[in-house]
Amino acid sequence: MQHLMSPLDLSVEELDKLLTLANDIENNPQKYSHACDGKKLATCFYEPSTRTRLSFEAAMLNLGGSVLGFSSADSSSAAKGESVSDTIRVISCYADICAMRHPKEGAPLVASEKSGIPVINAGDGGHQHPTQTLTDLLTIRSLKGRLDNLTIGLCGDLKFGRTVHSLIHALIRYPHIRFTLISPEELRVPSYIREDVLRKNNVPFQEVERLEDAMKELDILYMTRVQKERFFNEDEYVRMKDFYILDKKKMRLAREDMIVMHPLPRVNEISVDVDDDPRAAYFKQAQYGVYVRMALILTLLEVEVC
Ligand code: NCD
Repeated sequence: MQHLMSPLDLSVEELDKLLTLANDIENNPQKYSHACDGKKLATCFYEPSTRTRLSFEAAMLNLGGSVLGFSSADSSSAAKGESVSDTIRVISCYADICAMRHPKEGAPLVASEKSGIPVINAGDGGHQHPTQTLTDLLTIRSLKGRLDNLTIGLCGDLKFGRTVHSLIHALIRYPHIRFTLISPEELRVPSYIREDVLRKNNVPFQEVERLEDAMKELDILYMTRVQKERFFNEDEYVRMKDFYILDKKKMRLAREDMIVMHPLPRVNEISVDVDDDPRAAYFKQAQYGVYVRMALILTLLEVEVC
């Protein structure tokens, strides 16, 4: 039985196959509409979510399956003190596959060790968010036509932003990837990413503070929200929250074929006047999230559609 805890659980070849399946689902949705008839997805969300939970549910419903679950720790037995290990053992009796989000790093991994069904990490604290990464890779491959030879600007909260951590891990496996890490000093990527992931693998990167200085070289600008819920100090969050605001004026500095991505939710970091720019890809990205989760469910449940 296969689980998905990190984007690195899939080899580059497996990932390629999964993204190709997601593109086939995009082009031929009706071919897959009964692929999971009779199967159930449990969504166990101990932390708030709109996109991830609903896109998982939409993915399973699009495949003909059904969904059950909870959307906050308060409405589950976690409020009574139940461990994730016990919860997953019970959910294994009710469902065929589970997507779990948890504020504690490593909680979905602990659950997967006791689970009778595949577990998907739908975000664990500030650590990883592999299905957002699959979404991001599908978006990049579909819109840029490749996953190699790219200069990617990651901007905003690079310290707490788990989508950024997962995306860096996944992209360094492709040739000629360069990163521009754009953040205030306080929100730089954690040192384990800088040293053990980027430096150790000889991945070229630069760290800058001003978005304007980075814009013109980028193939992709990946904006992120300042992760309010992971700050210990409200004043610090208030000081950081509007550090970057991408607007029409800054977009003039970018290439014609650059794309702007964002895992969403957006707070202030992209002005709404950028939404009409043809380079704004963040709402398309949310759509790709459904196709890729459909492909992931099929893959983990080992369902073949001819
Ligand atoms: C992201 C997350 O949960 O980490 N959201 C998402 O799943 N699309 C990004 C965020 O919350 O900022």
